[in-house]
Amino acid sequence: MARLIAVTGATGNQGGSVAKLLLQSPNEYRVRALTRNPDSEAAKELAKLGAEIVKADLTIASDIAPALRGCWGVFAVTNFYDPKILDDPVSEERQGKDLAKAALEENVQCFVWSSLPSSSKLSDGKLISRIYEGKHHVDNYIREIGLPATFVFTGNFYENWVFRGHVHYDKEKDVVEFRQPIVLPQSKLAMLYVEKDLSAIAKAIFDNWESKREQLHHAYLYACNARLSPTEITSAIEKISGKRAIYTVLPSSGVPDRDTMFELYNSVGMYPGKEIPDENVLKLGVKLHSVENFIRDRLLPHLGLQPKT
Ligand SMILES: NC(=O)c1ccc[n+]([C@@H]2O[C@H](COP(=O)([O-])OP(=O)(O)OC[C@H]3O[C@@H](n4cnc5c(N)ncnc54)[C@H](OP(=O)(O)O)[C@@H]3O)[C@@H](O)[C@H]2O)c1
Repeated sequence: MARLIAVTGATGNQGGSVAKLLLQSPNEYRVRALTRNPDSEAAKELAKLGAEIVKADLTIASDIAPALRGCWGVFAVTNFYDPKILDDPVSEERQGKDLAKAALEENVQCFVWSSLPSSSKLSDGKLISRIYEGKHHVDNYIREIGLPATFVFTGNFYENWVFRGHVHYDKEKDVVEFRQPIVLPQSKLAMLYVEKDLSAIAKAIFDNWESKREQLHHAYLYACNARLSPTEITSAIEKISGKRAIYTVLPSSGVPDRDTMFELYNSVGMYPGKEIPDENVLKLGVKLHSVENFIRDRLLPHLGLQPKT
């Protein structure tokens, strides 16, 4: 019988990508999409694709256990940028812990937690971003309570270029402009094509959980295909689009914790010392997608441009 997987953030980028990939294997998986708003277009689209839509607000602890009831697996992500969290940054940690606690109570067998490491540890206490800390504290809690889980460290999303408008095409100047706060032109970020690769990694964990449980239980998998600097990214855009591409560093994102995160990238990098791509991801049979793939599939259509080659 197909296993039931609850997906948080299912109407967003990470959860949506995972939900949509799992829905393509109806003999293996059924998807329960958690959302605060079952009437949103994104929720309706998931319902059309076959997901069960369940109303749950992760800030209301009592919503969570009923929403996970009967689920074999959970893909769990929290959104630091949600207004409720931005106004109360410890809310992200609380949401993650409440999710983990409810998953344990509901006997969930495989919990995939979208996480980030401790910025404090990485920077010797110098650069502390709650975007990182909140998620990291949930890892510790998951281990403490003994929830069967895998931690996925996510890269910087290629999708930011489209969803956050970091890249745009100036028709008059005939130039593609890549603008990002704080990140210096030579700073290399570990990059992730969420739609294609995070989804595949989450599915691979669910697929392999029973046969490779020893390797996956409380393991860390790095969801990133390559380390790339803005300079390398503008070169890739130029090569594929045939347009001149320029990079501009903006002074601030407007979110202090996000600025600190970018300063962390400039100072110690992302996942320092870790070989990217992660061999343990490749061993699960996941084929990662490249910057070229994202530029061709998503960026150029978004900009209204054609690939040169
Ligand atoms: N951008 C990057 O490069 C990057 C890199 C690594 C990690 N991250 C992390 O990614 C996370 C955001 O993920 P995303 O980009 O997939 O988000 P997203 O596309 O903005 O979607 C946010 C999702 O979270 C759900 N959500 C928010 N608050 C909720 C609540 N209280 N209860 C239930 N659901 C809630 C929303 O569901 P409804 O609105 O339908 O309820 C929506 O599905 C952030 O925490 C960020 O730190 C981002």
